[in-house]
Amino acid sequence: MKRTKINILLNADGGTDDVLVKGWVRTKRDAKEFSFMEINDGSCLANIQVIANSNLENYLDIQKITTGTSVSISGSLIASPGKGQKWEIQAKNIDIFSIAPENYPLQKKRHTDEFLRTIAHLRPRTNKYGAAFRIRSEMCYAIHKFYKEKGFRYLTAPLITGSDCEGAGEMFRVTNLDPRQIKKQGKMDFSQDFFGQEANLTVSGQLSAEMFALSLGDVYTFGPTFRAENSNTSRHVAEFWMLEPEMAFCDLNENMDHGEELVKYLTEHATKECEQDLALFSKFVDKALGPRIDAILNQEFARVTYTEAVEILEKAKKKFEFKVGYGTDLQSEHERYLAEDYFKKPVFLIDYPKEIKPFYMRMNDDEKTVAAVDLLVPKIGELIGGSQREERLDVLENRMAQMELSQEDYWWYLDSRKYGTVPHSGFGMGFERFLMLITGISNIRDVIPFPRTPGSIDF
Ligand code: 4AD
Ligand code: MG
Repeated sequence: MKRTKINILLNADGGTDDVLVKGWVRTKRDAKEFSFMEINDGSCLANIQVIANSNLENYLDIQKITTGTSVSISGSLIASPGKGQKWEIQAKNIDIFSIAPENYPLQKKRHTDEFLRTIAHLRPRTNKYGAAFRIRSEMCYAIHKFYKEKGFRYLTAPLITGSDCEGAGEMFRVTNLDPRQIKKQGKMDFSQDFFGQEANLTVSGQLSAEMFALSLGDVYTFGPTFRAENSNTSRHVAEFWMLEPEMAFCDLNENMDHGEELVKYLTEHATKECEQDLALFSKFVDKALGPRIDAILNQEFARVTYTEAVEILEKAKKKFEFKVGYGTDLQSEHERYLAEDYFKKPVFLIDYPKEIKPFYMRMNDDEKTVAAVDLLVPKIGELIGGSQREERLDVLENRMAQMELSQEDYWWYLDSRKYGTVPHSGFGMGFERFLMLITGISNIRDVIPFPRTPGSIDF
C-alpha cells in the first residue's frame, strides 16, 4: 500500500478501507476499549485522528506510545463523528518505529520562541514553526512562478566573489591559507591564496545580475547572501536569502511598479495557498496581521522622496532614539514610523543623498541625490533596497574615482557601460524580512531554518 500524506487525506472526497499514513504522535488518550491518537506528518497544520481498538494484536505496545513517537498506521478512512475534522482513521495495524522517551522536549505545552531557538533542530515539529517553514517553502515556489509568468530568466550568481557590491566592507573572507602560516609570516599574502587575490562571500548578486540583464533582458537572482554586520537585531542575520530582479530598459518608476507588483503577488499567493498556516499566525502570533495583509493587497503603496520623508520625521511628535536630519541614514525606528504610523501601509522612499548610497546608483540631475529606492513596510522597516543604475560611463567613472574605487578591479563592470549601455534598474528584497511581514513573526531568527548571527552557529 502506498503512503498518503495527511493533507491529501483530510481533503478526501470519500472514505476508503485501505489508507496508510506515517508520522509522529502529537497526543494520545486512552479510553477503556480503545486509544485515540493525533498524528501529524508535517504535510499540513492539521493532525489526523486515529482510533486504535484494544483488539489490535500489539495493543500492549500501542499503550506505551508517547508524544513524539514515530508510527506507521494502516486502516480505514471513515467520516469522523467528532467536531472539527471530517475524517479519521480506524486503525487495522499500527507499527511503531521508535517510542520517544519521557524527556522528549516538545511535550504538549506552549514553549517560548527563545527556548525553541535552542532546539532549532526540533522546532519545525511544532505547529508554529511547521507552519512558518511550509510558508517559506511555498514562497520560494511563488517567486519562481511569478518570474516565469513574467518571462524573466533565473540567474544563479556566484557566491564567492572578488568585489564588494555594497562597499560597506561587511564581508566574510574566503581563504584556504593556513592560519598558522599567516601568523608566522605576520601577514596574509593573497597572491599565495586560492584565487591569487582577496575573495569573499557575496553580499549581493547585483553586479552579476546587471551583466545578465544587459544580455538576456530581465533576470532575477535568488539565493544566499552573506553579511558580517555586527548587528544583533531582530532583523539581521549573517546569512540570508535575497531576491534580486534586474531589468534592462527600466527606470526608477518602473522599478517601483515592479516591486509593488511582486510584493502583492507573493502576498496574495500566500493567502491562497497557505490559508491554514497563515490563520495560525493571525490567531496566535499577531492579531494585526489580517489588516496588514489587507493593506498590502488593496492599497496603492505610497511614494515619497527621502527629503519629504525627513521633513515628515522632523515634524513627528514621536520621540526618536536617533536624531534625524537631511543626510543621515534612516534608522529602523524612523522607517517604521513612516510605514506604520504615518502612511499606515508600505511606502517607497526615493532619491537619497549620494553620500549614504553605493557607487552604482544613478546620479540625479541635482547632482546631490541618486536614484535610490527603499521600500519600507510596517513592523519591519526596510524590505527592499535598490536603484536605477548609473549607465553613463563618464558619470560612473567620476563617482568611482570620488569613492576611491579601483577602475581596474571593475573593468568588466565598466565594459557594460562601453558596449551598448542602456538604462536599467533593480533591487534586492530580503526574503526573511518578507516572511516576517506576512507571518507577523517578529524575530528574523524564527523564519530561517538555522539562523547564523554574531557569536552563534549551532546546528
Ligand atoms: O539594501 P541592500 O543592502 O541592497 C543590496 O544589496 C542591493 N545590491 C540590492 C540590489 O539592488 N540588487 O539589501 C537588500 C535587502 C534589504 O532591503 C533587506 O531586506 C535585506 O536585503 N537585508 C538583510 N536581511 C537580513 N539580514 C541582513 N543582514 C540583511 N541585510 C540586508
Ligand atoms: Mg539597504
